[in-house]
Amino acid sequence: MNPVLEEIISTGNTRTISGGIKKVIGQISPEEGKLIQDCINKTGAEISVEVGLAFGTSALYICDALFKSDKTRHYVIDPYQMYEDSYSGIGLNNLKKAGYENIVDFIDKPSHQALAELERKNVKADFAFIDGWHTFDHALVDFFLIDKLLRIDGIVILDDSDWKAVRKVCSFISNNRAYKFIGGTSKRSYINENVHRSGLKKYFNRMKNFFKGYVDDEQKRFGAMAFQKVSGDDRRWDHFVDFS
Ligand SMILES: C[S@@+](CC[C@H](N)C(=O)[O-])C[C@H]1O[C@@H](n2cnc3c(N)ncnc32)[C@H](O)[C@@H]1O
Repeated sequence: MNPVLEEIISTGNTRTISGGIKKVIGQISPEEGKLIQDCINKTGAEISVEVGLAFGTSALYICDALFKSDKTRHYVIDPYQMYEDSYSGIGLNNLKKAGYENIVDFIDKPSHQALAELERKNVKADFAFIDGWHTFDHALVDFFLIDKLLRIDGIVILDDSDWKAVRKVCSFISNNRAYKFIGGTSKRSYINENVHRSGLKKYFNRMKNFFKGYVDDEQKRFGAMAFQKVSGDDRRWDHFVDFS
């Protein structure tokens, strides 16, 4: 494991660009990191796409695991990475410090724009991780556009699949698309705990609407869900299977 990721995991903190200490919030858990790396290893992924860089925790897990060759690329998308009041470029700096500058393509745009651009450029991905804006419509559009990039047998993981909106997207995928569910992580209460511990009330207020979404135990079962693409999209134009 690279030392930048190790510091985040062991201390819950990371470094600002000037070397100060910053509490990391919203990051994936080590269990989710393991799921990511298992999926990358399973497919021998060289090219990956990620929505939501934040402080770079998931990106560091991904870059550590990608098979390294001349083709290796990690496309990571986040329109708020450079904002002073959010991440101040720390995620990108962490990837650089970990030695991944040469394989990372950072796209400073909302995911619906960035992913469509990648499709136009004919980028093909082996692995994708969705952890951006967690409303149903945004997460579904992220999946829809990532499917255009993902090769057959490629794997997509949706983080926070215990949130009602993301859970619905997972249910849509299971019921309507040629993907098979291949694994998940236990439910995460990570953001909540971090927020309370660090007293970041402002952040919590921004996030709390999302927590209204929990419904039942079944939907809370997985903190992240991984789906493997089985085939291309050969549904009829009027195909629809209801999902809940
Ligand atoms: C929960 S954080 C991601 C955490 C990250 N996976 C980690 O492990 O550190 C969600 C991220 O999504 C980004 N985001 C929000 N809206 C977005 C959008 N429309 N497109 C892409 N990223 C977005 C936020 O800026 C934030 O960095």
